[in-house]
Amino acid sequence: MGPPRHTTGVRPPAEAIASLAGIVAAIAFVILIGVEGALAYAAWRFRASRAEGVPAQIYGHTRLEILWTVAPLGVLAVVFVLMLGTMSEIGASVPANGPAALRIGAVGHQWWWEYRYPRDGAEVVGANELHIPVGLAVDLELGSNDVIHSFWVPELGGKIDMIPGRTNVLRLYASRAGVYVGQCAEFCGLEHAWMRITVVAQPADEFRRWLDAEATPRATPAGAAAEGERLFSAKVCASCHTIRGTSAVALAAPDLTHVGSRLTLGAGVLRNNDAAMRAWIADTQSIKPGALMPPVPLSDAELDALTAYLRSLR
Ligand code: CUA
Repeated sequence: MGPPRHTTGVRPPAEAIASLAGIVAAIAFVILIGVEGALAYAAWRFRASRAEGVPAQIYGHTRLEILWTVAPLGVLAVVFVLMLGTMSEIGASVPANGPAALRIGAVGHQWWWEYRYPRDGAEVVGANELHIPVGLAVDLELGSNDVIHSFWVPELGGKIDMIPGRTNVLRLYASRAGVYVGQCAEFCGLEHAWMRITVVAQPADEFRRWLDAEATPRATPAGAAAEGERLFSAKVCASCHTIRGTSAVALAAPDLTHVGSRLTLGAGVLRNNDAAMRAWIADTQSIKPGALMPPVPLSDAELDALTAYLRSLR
């Protein structure tokens, strides 16, 4: 499922930026050919075997000096004007004025995303999969838990750094429902590349239903899943994760209350299914080396129970 197209007649920001980059690259290519061509010609034309004594020694050449000052200035002016056009186009694709319909907190962690949705005066915490309503401006309040990250979903808006100790605001706007992808855009350590961003844009009523479900504590598990819940607290899991409705309330790692409903695991490293969940718990470090989830020795039966439990958390 590819990212959907905008229907407003405005190109998504990524397309506008890509076309500007293409134009700049074309201009740079023409300059490259001109400069390298002149260099090659001079090297060939004035090679040693053709030397006819010492060539004329020129000191200062007013017309040439003016030319190579004005020409780059002209090129930069053209790029500048094109860039202003692109910036206003990006502005037009994301409604810039007025208050946002929704303000969602987004916190960068090494190497995952935390999202905080307002609901009835409280906050609903989710991880690694941002949900937003379609057709409404959403402001993300960006922060970081550790180092500088950068939030970038090219189809939905601009790119802004997430800086520890300050809040930056990024406006997102999706004109069509769908799954949009993004990426942490600031090198933030070993697993920077696996800080993928997944944004699910849904019609407003669907979003509301999703948020209501996200706000509920986990459903009481039965069978193997119940044993999984017991293990989750008995093993080291609960010292980092929260599963609302249980004794696991730690905030160092992603909230797993509804992890079974997410599209991916490990901030995009695996598609979420039974086999992936089991592999992730069994050996996180082989899948995402450096991830802060420590190896936990588990028997096959324990792995099965934990997998059944986490997958049941829809
Ligand atoms: Cu977070 Cu790069």
